[in-house]
Amino acid sequence: MTFGCARMSVTRRQLLRGFAAAAASVATPSWAYTPNRPLVLKFSHVVADDTPKGLAAQFFAKRVTELTAAKVRVEVYPSSSLHSDKDEIEALQVGAVQLLAPSLAKFGLLGLREFEVFDLPFLFDNLLEARQLTQGKVGQLLMSKLSARGLLGLGFWENGFKSFSATTPLIRPVDFKGKRIRIQPSSVLDAQIRALGAVPYPLAFSELPNALRTGLVDGQEGPLSNFYTQSLQSVQKHLTLSEHGYLGYAVIANQRFWERMPGDLRSLTEVALLEATDYANSIAHRKSEEALQAVLATGKTVVHRLNSDQRLALRKALLPVHRQMEGRIGRELLTQVYAVTGFDPSAA
Ligand code: LMR
Repeated sequence: MTFGCARMSVTRRQLLRGFAAAAASVATPSWAYTPNRPLVLKFSHVVADDTPKGLAAQFFAKRVTELTAAKVRVEVYPSSSLHSDKDEIEALQVGAVQLLAPSLAKFGLLGLREFEVFDLPFLFDNLLEARQLTQGKVGQLLMSKLSARGLLGLGFWENGFKSFSATTPLIRPVDFKGKRIRIQPSSVLDAQIRALGAVPYPLAFSELPNALRTGLVDGQEGPLSNFYTQSLQSVQKHLTLSEHGYLGYAVIANQRFWERMPGDLRSLTEVALLEATDYANSIAHRKSEEALQAVLATGKTVVHRLNSDQRLALRKALLPVHRQMEGRIGRELLTQVYAVTGFDPSAA
């Protein structure tokens, strides 16, 4: 298994500290804007440009340039080109980058288990329910947990619902038996895969295409835009539109850096972020649909739609995960979440 900051090599850590020291020395003299020296915000992420997150990051960068008259410049590094999700949060904490948008499933790595509530299977019937959570008290509560880690939450961006894929069809729960399925490093996702009799295999996103190509894993779960833009149709013969779980992001900044930005530039940057959040959430569904059509057009992957009995069987197999994860996520938070989404864990 190759996930987790704890496993980061010493060399990598030293490199990041070096970046941090360099960043601090550059920044120390003054935060005041001087011509030809815009304030640079590095925004690192792991997915392709043509995804909801990739497009929203570019939109944000453009709006920051416009609103601040180029006094702030956002440099977007997509596709793990600067940091992969094995080390991006540490890079943010030490100041080597200033912005990230990890999926909510990755915050458990920081000890922020509550974020994993979003990974619970079949929690949402539609994206609006997820949005009610992120934009309400639950979202605020989660964001408030970040400052203990030196981070600041700026917004929630949506991607959409996940589908399972594999080298063989995954229709009934029994089809999952013994399959090695790549997951993000979340205990809830681990429990979800085990509930299906499959073997969870946490891997960094950048490692996913190759892990499928070499047969290290048999399948994966993820949103359609990631499936298509990572060309998984070349290595996954079967895709099931299971929509069994949600994938969204929290845009986060290095808190210390953010607080030290000149107030006027920070406010304008935050306006751009609000606009980018609206933009991300307005394109998420469309990007999924486009990705599905694009996958179908390749003719390489068989796309399965579940009928209501098949969906019910999958749901039944996965519902025990809610009870199992109660201790990890916290009963109080779960009750709050169920009250918003109307989810009833006892009803199959
Ligand atoms: C994954 O690791 O599958 C996702 O978190 C990637 C992403 O950022 O959408």
